[in-house]
Amino acid sequence: MSSPATPLSRNPHLLRWVNKVAILCKPAAIHWVDGSPSEYDALCARMVVDGTFIKLNQKKWPGCYLARSDASDVARVEDRTFICSLSKEAAGATNNWVNPFEMRKTLKARFNGCMRGRTMYVLPFSMGVPGSPMSQIGVELTDSPYVVVNMRIMARIGREVFKLIDADFKRVVPCVHSVGAPLMPGQKDVAWPCNKEKYIVHFPETREIWSYGSGYGGNALLGKKCFALRIASAIARDEGWMAEHMLILGVEDPQSRKTYVAAAFPSACGKTNFAMLIPPRHYQRQGWKIWTVGDDIAWLRPDSKGRLRAINPEAGFFGVAPGTGAHTNPSAMRSLARNTIFTNVALTDDGGVWWEGMTKEPPAHAIDWKGHDWTPAIGREKGHPAAHPNARFTAPARQCPSIDPEWEDPQGVPIHGIIFGGRRATTMPLVFQAFSWTHGIYVGATMGSEMTAAAAGTIGKVRRDPMAMLPFCGYDMGDYFQHWVNMQQALHEPPPVFHVNWFRKDQDGKFIWPGFSENMRVLQWIVDRIQGRGRAMNTPIGWMPRHRDIDWTGLDFPVEKFEELQQVDRAAWKAEIIGQGELFFDLHASMPRELSYEREMLISRIRA
Ligand code: OXD
Ligand code: MN
Repeated sequence: MSSPATPLSRNPHLLRWVNKVAILCKPAAIHWVDGSPSEYDALCARMVVDGTFIKLNQKKWPGCYLARSDASDVARVEDRTFICSLSKEAAGATNNWVNPFEMRKTLKARFNGCMRGRTMYVLPFSMGVPGSPMSQIGVELTDSPYVVVNMRIMARIGREVFKLIDADFKRVVPCVHSVGAPLMPGQKDVAWPCNKEKYIVHFPETREIWSYGSGYGGNALLGKKCFALRIASAIARDEGWMAEHMLILGVEDPQSRKTYVAAAFPSACGKTNFAMLIPPRHYQRQGWKIWTVGDDIAWLRPDSKGRLRAINPEAGFFGVAPGTGAHTNPSAMRSLARNTIFTNVALTDDGGVWWEGMTKEPPAHAIDWKGHDWTPAIGREKGHPAAHPNARFTAPARQCPSIDPEWEDPQGVPIHGIIFGGRRATTMPLVFQAFSWTHGIYVGATMGSEMTAAAAGTIGKVRRDPMAMLPFCGYDMGDYFQHWVNMQQALHEPPPVFHVNWFRKDQDGKFIWPGFSENMRVLQWIVDRIQGRGRAMNTPIGWMPRHRDIDWTGLDFPVEKFEELQQVDRAAWKAEIIGQGELFFDLHASMPRELSYEREMLISRIRA
């Protein structure tokens, strides 16, 4: 067997770059990642010895491990995320911009010697199935074995990707990642090395990613948010496709016809649950079934006939654990039952894992995500959850019982409809359909949502999160809307666009809509509309179902309650339009005219 230090590629550009980064970062060793199961097992075993991983009870949780991060490194750091395009205008008003020359100087100083005492892994990965015309390739140089094993679940990695690189299959996106914690000779490592100073940096023109100081999620697994969204959105604009923060699901109807939709919701707003929805019994009996293609990212591209097709560029789910349980998402529970890496959940006394919402009854005792004793009483009295609210599972998508048979089709699946949604306690009805493609873009562009724990910030505050892409668009948001507008030219028939909100509350602060499986009723209406058989009424904000347009078999949901849920309150909408205006103000220079017209038309419809 050859040593991991032996290069697995002959590509001279790659070899030169690896050498250059090694000279800068000064790692103690270099490991070329082959992606094999034995390499994965050896890395996990090493991390168990080093204290980064705890091997779970293998009888109950085969192939599963638990990691606990540093308490300061638990979420994406949007205020430390930078888009360093050549001009500030290209990054736009909603991104943090730093002059790329300045940033390169800063990075050079931070990365100088930052991998001392550690191994630098050369990790090749393909977003999308290797060789698909819709996939893209990256190489991440990282000093974190935790990143390597997570990326093995989240992307396609290893020798087959090196082969594509050697064949010059496609341009490679170079990604450099360091936890920013060099080890001096004799210095003992900590379980979760990181640095309190963090930089998550993107150079969209040169398609490069540099990440420093964090080992967590989207800050460190660079194929995900950094590549598949920020850099890919810039590539997609240049090449005429779209990189979106969207799940993809297929709805099979009783006639065995499949309708695929892509849906954008902000982080931690239920994309994974929606992607794995299990229809209520009555629907199942009729033959309805939901198939999962992806739960977080979609790359959409018109085919030669002008039909929109999409792939899920990822191979795994990096899902939020709290709130996921057998009663909310049984398919996710089955996906994560083996070969899964858990981060920041609680450890139970029998060597298993637990988090809030996994079971109705909490365990009598556990070790919380910080490594301290935890009991339900501590949880109640001190307000300390057992799992961090942004605790995650990294699980292979192929283990999902509802995974779509076509999920790895290199050509992608056809997309028949697009759904936008947010978490809104007021104003936004359960569902409506936009009047047109440009109205749909307006609806997506003005999306608002209450903030969640997926990013550092004020939880609960409503923020505008256009297309759920605010933290993930690699260029100016106004130009991004323009790209959406332009896409219509490439589409033979643009898919209809819908907006949903599962989270509207009544005057007592209670959710009006039961959500979860019952969302199938909304999805059926959406599918019926797409297929040209669903009925709707015209309202100032779009097409809406009446109570009689939805199948209520098996759910007692009276007309009055439905009307409360669907109400378009003109006063609330006036305030909403004023709130939406802030975005137009910020993006004034590049906002497409089409969206300004849509805004004018909405104002006149609401006023009338
Ligand atoms: C995610 C996120 O991890 O959106 O998917 O934060
Ligand atoms: Mn996401």
